Amino acid sequence: MAVRPLRPTSRRGPRKPISILLLIFVPIFVIGIYAYFQEIGYLLRPLWDKPPPPFKHIIPHYYAENVSMEHLCHLHGWSMRSEPRRIFDAIIFSNELDILELRWRELYPYITKFVIIESNTTFTGIPKPLFFELNRARFAFAEEKIVHGVNPGQVATPGFREEPFILERQQRAFMGKFIRSSGISNGDIIIVSDTDEIPRPSTLKLLQWCDGIPPVMHLQMKHYLYSFEFPVDYYIWQPSVHIYGPWFGYRHSRQSEFLLAEAGWHCSFCFRRIQEYVFKMTAYSHADRVRRKDFLDPARIQRIICRGDDLFDMLPEEYTFQDLIKKMGPVPRTASAVHLPAYLIENADKYRFLLPGGCLRIK
Ligand SMILES: *[C@@H]1O[C@H](CO)[C@@H](O)[C@H](O)[C@H]1NC(C)=O
Ligand SMILES: *[C@@H]1O[C@H](CO)[C@@H](O)[C@H](O)[C@H]1NC(C)=O
Repeated sequence: MAVRPLRPTSRRGPRKPISILLLIFVPIFVIGIYAYFQEIGYLLRPLWDKPPPPFKHIIPHYYAENVSMEHLCHLHGWSMRSEPRRIFDAIIFSNELDILELRWRELYPYITKFVIIESNTTFTGIPKPLFFELNRARFAFAEEKIVHGVNPGQVATPGFREEPFILERQQRAFMGKFIRSSGISNGDIIIVSDTDEIPRPSTLKLLQWCDGIPPVMHLQMKHYLYSFEFPVDYYIWQPSVHIYGPWFGYRHSRQSEFLLAEAGWHCSFCFRRIQEYVFKMTAYSHADRVRRKDFLDPARIQRIICRGDDLFDMLPEEYTFQDLIKKMGPVPRTASAVHLPAYLIENADKYRFLLPGGCLRIK
């Protein structure tokens, strides 16, 4: 890039060092802005972005072992039903096989049908195997409850990348229609969440047994990164539950003023194998975050997982400078493994990688 002083200077002498400085620093500044555009954007987020408006009704969640359903419904201001509602669990699946098994084992007693769709391309338009179909034998324990659909994806034109949010929206629309083939009826409950957003059994019991729950309610989930060893915060609100009716749409956006507190677990990037990280990082909706090739280096990924650091080398998405500074750096690890899914604790050997001290992954 040839950069020249903008205007010829009329005076000579003392101005020269300044022109030279400009000659050096202006290009560095421009290149810097260009290279770190995204980072600077995140750093200044508190100036340009506002947090989503707070929920008007945050519903406290009451639960302890062996307390009767009748008492629990009453504590929420609801009444107890004479028979349980049917619950349908609907997810769009990519490649999270271990988390899927954990989810279905944990939810099995409460769910009428597990509705699952997958596509033969990623949200970024890359052809991919039908991971669920290929591994269906692993889910034989739930076979009679599974309703599986395949949504043919769109392959991106070579050299271009599909807009991930468009393909994601198309898959959600497909799910909205597909759900009707699952045998759902008006008045049943439907859970709308990602595979790695797992509602707690205590949440499902309230949905089954209590009358008076809001027709649409978001579920607040505790957010973990890589495993239950790294709790991030409680800010997940996107999952929702609906009393099914003709107006139902499968969306992941804000749809209600009601939020049930501590309603489940969101374990993001919770994989057993490094190669699954690489796949997810390239298939992910925010695939533009893979800015450098070495982001996909297995040794780097392993190091970052054990530190609880950020795979994409990004700043936290926060809306105040105070939160931004608080969240910078790695997620502090916890030695607690209480209040986690029962199936995980019962099968701790099989799921070491999700528990404290289990950060080493296999290739
Ligand atoms: C819960 O109730 C069952 C049967 O009613 C009883 O066997 C069990 O000991 C109780 N557990 C606790 C933690 O109180
Ligand atoms: C995806 O599936 C559809 C329908 O079976 C097929 O026409 C299409 O070629 C497949 N795409 C890829 C990338 O495999």
